[in-house]
This record gives sequence, C-alpha cells and structure tokens, in this order.
Amino acid sequence: MSRSAHPAGPRYADVLPEGHYTAPPADLNSLDPRVWSQTVERTQDGAVAVGGLDVRKIAEEFGTPAYVLDETDFRARCRAWRDAFGRDADVFYAGKAFLSRAVVRWLYEEGLNLDVCSGGELATALAAGMPAERIALHGNNKSNEEIHRAVEAGVGRIVLDSFQEIARVAHAAERLGRRQPVQIRVTVGVEAHTHEFIATAHEDQKFGLALADGGAAEAVRRVLRLDSLELIGIHSHIGSQIFDMAGFEVSARRVVGLLTQIRDEHGIELPEIDLGGGLGIAYTPEDDPREPHEIAKSLGDIVTRECEVAGLAVPRLSVEPGRAIVGPTAFTLYEVGTLKELEGLRTYVSVDGGMSDNIRTALYDAEYSVALVSRASVAEPMLSRVVGKHCESGDIVVRDAFLPADLAPGDLLAVPATGAYCRSMASNYNHALRPPVIAVRDGEARTILRRETEEDLLRLDVG
Ligand code: LLP
Repeated sequence: MSRSAHPAGPRYADVLPEGHYTAPPADLNSLDPRVWSQTVERTQDGAVAVGGLDVRKIAEEFGTPAYVLDETDFRARCRAWRDAFGRDADVFYAGKAFLSRAVVRWLYEEGLNLDVCSGGELATALAAGMPAERIALHGNNKSNEEIHRAVEAGVGRIVLDSFQEIARVAHAAERLGRRQPVQIRVTVGVEAHTHEFIATAHEDQKFGLALADGGAAEAVRRVLRLDSLELIGIHSHIGSQIFDMAGFEVSARRVVGLLTQIRDEHGIELPEIDLGGGLGIAYTPEDDPREPHEIAKSLGDIVTRECEVAGLAVPRLSVEPGRAIVGPTAFTLYEVGTLKELEGLRTYVSVDGGMSDNIRTALYDAEYSVALVSRASVAEPMLSRVVGKHCESGDIVVRDAFLPADLAPGDLLAVPATGAYCRSMASNYNHALRPPVIAVRDGEARTILRRETEEDLLRLDVG
C-alpha cells in the first residue's frame, strides 16, 4: 500500500470534474460550520461530539449507519424562520424532507405549521397531535381517500393541483358538510436554477395549473362557483435547492399579478399567497445559502411593492421550507469497511450504508462533504470516493472527498447535511435495513425512528 504517496495536488486534480474540489482543505480535522449543525465540535481527544455526546458512544449504543439529528439546531432553525417571517406570515415545514412524530412536536412547540403531501404524512402529523388547522395538504394526485381524511380532520388548507381535484375536494367537502379552505397551485413559468428533477415551475412538468395558458385563471373561476370551497389564496413552489432569489421574485410578481387579475375579474382580493419552499443549503463549504431573515426581507419587500403598484392589500404570506430547516441538522454516521486504492485514481472507501440511506448522490449528482469523526488524524490527504455496500457501481455517497491517508476499517465517518430527503427517501434495496434517526440534545440521545429489523422485512413478506 502506498497511500502515503498520494500527493493531493495536480496529479489528482485532473480526475476531478470541473467544479469539484481541486485541492484538499488545509486541515482535514476542521469542521466547517457551514455544513455541520451548531453543536458539532471536535473534542480534546480528537473525536467529534454532537449535543455534548461523543459519536463513538452514539455508534456503540445505536449502531451504524445512523442518522444523528441535532435537536437544538433543529429548534433554532425553526425559530430563525419563525422570527424572520414574523406575525404576518406563516412558516409551514415541508414534511417530505423528514417527518416523525417527535419532529412534529418540535415544530408545534416552535410555532410552525406543517405541509404534508400524502395520507401517510397526514397520519403522522395527526398522530403527533398537530392541530389540523395548522396542516396543509399538497399533492398532484391526491386520492379520494386522502382528500376525505384531510377534509374530515379539518386541515387548514388543501392546495388544489388540477381541475379534477377541484371537483373531488368540493364533493368531499359537500358530503361532510364542510366549507374547505383551498389554495390553487400555479406554475409561474420560472426556470429555477437547480437539478431538472427538482425544478417545478417551468410549464412542461406535472405540478400545478399554468398562468401562461389561462389554466390558473380558469381554476379560480371554477373554485369560486363552488359553495363548499373557500378560496383563500394562490400557491407557487418553483423547485428545490435554489440559491438565487431571482426565481422567487419573478414568482412573487406573477402570483401578485394573478391576484390583481382576480380582483379585476371577480371583485375579490384573496387574503393569502404561499411562495413554497426550495431554499438551498450548504452541502459543501462552496455552497452559500441565504439566511432566513434575508429571504423573509426579500420576499416581503417584493410582495409589498407589487401589491402597492397594483393597489392591492398586502396578503398574508406563507412559505414552506423543508430542507433549509432539517437538512443541516443531521449527519449520517457510518463505519468504514473495505478500502481499495486505485493507483493514480483515488481510494474507494466503503461504508456500511450507501444508496439505500442516501439516494441523492446517485439521483441528483448531489455533492456532500465527509469527515473522519472517531479520531483526529495528521496523515496526508487522500483523494477518496465514499461508496456504499450495494450491488451497483452508482452506489456513491460522496463522489470526491479528501480523507486522511491513514483511514482504516472500523473508523467512523460522518456525512453532514443529510437531514433532508435522506431518511425520507431511504429504501430497502438489497434488503438493507433502514437506519434509525437518533436525536441528541444536551448530552442525551434517543431514538426517534428505530432501525428496521429483519423481522420488519419478513413481516411484510407474507409468503
Ligand atoms: N413545498 C412544496 C409544494 C414542495 O413540493 C416542496 C418540495 C417543498 C415545499 C419543500 O422544498 P424544500 O424547501 O425542502 O426544498 N427529493 C429532492 C427534493 C424534492 C422536493 C420536492 N418538493 C431532493 O432530495 O433534493
């Protein structure tokens, strides 16, 4: 083995695609606060702790792989969003990023509302005691059963996504003798600068009703004709992992444009607009996300200005951040297994999880960072690729990373910023057992979602 012969420099820079790291960080032991949650620190003996707990103890007690969620950081982010938007706005946490009953309770306590997009998410929210009026139901193909349950529970809003759904929600509300508050989801025709699979406001995709072809205006006409529906506002979500506020500004402007058109045509001013979620987070230190107060100011200013120009009363604003709240709060803890050095290329570092607990690298070319957390090391940087244990070569967790050249089986690695869309998109591929989510706070750790067991798998297999 000649791992120490790995000079991290020009020799390896040419195997890195453009935009990826071209040089190792100055200190492999440092933990950049942009990608790690706020209570993560390297302790005196070199290991990493979170919420006052040593990761080695967490691994020992709960096993690996595991998602480790910093509750203090989660609550702080909820408060930052709540405070930034203030009393004249509502923050709906997007449950699809990660949902469990504990998380619902934290949201409730921190004054946030909740956006759910399936019967399962709705059931979790209600089981945790979230008041139904603080829940919004989304989805481009809600089943009649989901609609019925949502109306019956009394959710605060259903976001209508198609013409068929207008009739179906109206029917459910009539049958239950309710008047259901609804918003209409519109596609504003913005090309959000993000991965194609997570952009949602251009016209050629499945969500919403378009402003451009008059579909949104027609949906408004139809909803206003139905007594069992109460049209409370217009909704737009332009995509996800977006850094540039320009797309949100165009979206806000076009949504206010529709409110103006509605006033002119129907003589009513809708009281709410929702500009969705999608704010990006730092997965690597190169990412530079906006802070909640900047986002709140930028959205608030543009809505106020556009409404003034149109002579409209400023509607109540809501937003739906998922990733920006939960993403940075968790890391995935893995144990290193096999190491394979490919001379002149890189070292493949296999961990005990992979694409079953983080599909984002394979699916969206997502970039992550990684650190050795069970000890500090002064060894040279080694160009590495962190891969999982699944049976395909696309099973990559971190495409390009520098790890210390003395890395060995049994070491613990942590991949930060995996709080959003990792556990919630986890699979049982290769009959992998989905990892637990361990919440840590003030020196204590507890399981909020337990690890799956082989019995869980076999229980579904009815033979
Ligand atoms: N509101 C609506 C209507 C949404 O569709 C979404 C995300 C959100 C809010 C929250 O977006 P966030 O703030 O979390 O970006 N699986 C992909 C992300 C898909 C997002 C789908 N909708 C990923 O791993 O990047």
